[in-house]
Amino acid sequence: MSAQPDREALLQEFSAHLDAAQTLDAIHELKIAWVGRKGRLTHQLKELGQMSIEDRRVFGPILNQLKLHMDQALTSKELTFIRLVQQETLEQDTLDITLPGGVQTMGRIHPLMQVMESLVTIFRSLGFVVADGPEIESEFHNFEALNVPADHPARDMQDTFYIERGIHQLTLPNVQDRAATREGTLLRTHTSPVQVRVMEKFTPPLAVIVPGRVYRHEAQDATHSATFHQLEGLLVDKNVSFAELKGTLARFAQLFFAPNVKTRFRPSFFPFTEPSAQIDVSCMICNGAGCRICKNSGWIELMGAGMVNPNVFKAVGYDPGLYSGFAFGMGVERLAMIKYGVDDLRAFYENDIRFLDQF
Ligand code: FA5
Repeated sequence: MSAQPDREALLQEFSAHLDAAQTLDAIHELKIAWVGRKGRLTHQLKELGQMSIEDRRVFGPILNQLKLHMDQALTSKELTFIRLVQQETLEQDTLDITLPGGVQTMGRIHPLMQVMESLVTIFRSLGFVVADGPEIESEFHNFEALNVPADHPARDMQDTFYIERGIHQLTLPNVQDRAATREGTLLRTHTSPVQVRVMEKFTPPLAVIVPGRVYRHEAQDATHSATFHQLEGLLVDKNVSFAELKGTLARFAQLFFAPNVKTRFRPSFFPFTEPSAQIDVSCMICNGAGCRICKNSGWIELMGAGMVNPNVFKAVGYDPGLYSGFAFGMGVERLAMIKYGVDDLRAFYENDIRFLDQF
């Protein structure tokens, strides 16, 4: 036979405890102690099961009422304390609107891509449109169609990463046989193969530029990287002259560097252009007087260019008797070095935030 609960005594004791609880933690403890899973009142409610039906009828409602009362009293006191704590926090926290705000660090465009973007903007303003081509290229587009046959010494001008494709490639005994199959695949060594792709697809007149990444099997140093970027240009129409090539590139140099920059054309050789030239600009670091960047010559080499070789026109099915054109190809890293006075192109690839932050 279980003891009969004394409503008044329980109520008095609970009220005394509730009055004494003066923190949120104390209220939580009280909750556990009275109405928690093993709490005093919970225990009494469980005891109901042991009572006679008559007692249960009497004490059941009493205990349930007590439980309701305790739950309400605890919740109400808990809420009062939560508000109190919030109030105190608000009063202590002062908002100083004169404090400087947190600085948001923003990412920025890589200097090489900034240069690329400004090159594209300049050539667009001169009437060129942007064309694109694959970085994994066929030997045909990278070399043969550009008048560089397999056995031609000009292949050595650009050390090439070849990609062997399957057993068929591996069983071919030498480069010449491989080229003959037109199956050879490589990482493009320059953006010039896109000239071929554009001419295969479109008929003149056309004026395109090709910004893009190229690869060469080369030792890295201050001015050479195995992966770098070029911007190619190609203009084909009837009666295009060398003077137009000169005028276009001189104007480009003024727009990219400064209005007073001078350009110089030196004879050169590329199998895909005839005649060919190397184009230099006067050094804007020393204004032509001679410095470390221009190796004391007063001039900086900028790009290769020339009139499109008739053999290239033949390879793409253009009539060389009808059309003429010019092409040029410049190194974007070199242009960025000259523009920003950076003397080692590896700086563009090291991702040193102190370097990149300056652009
Ligand atoms: C060419 O690649 C020719 N396709 C350019 C051309 C196009 C000539 C159209 C005529 C007509 P070249 O190998 O010289 O040429 O490279 C062009 C430019 O790329 C160079 O002037 C230089 O600025 C840059 N360059 C060459 N090799 C590297 C390298 N390893 N690292 C960084 N830049 C390079």
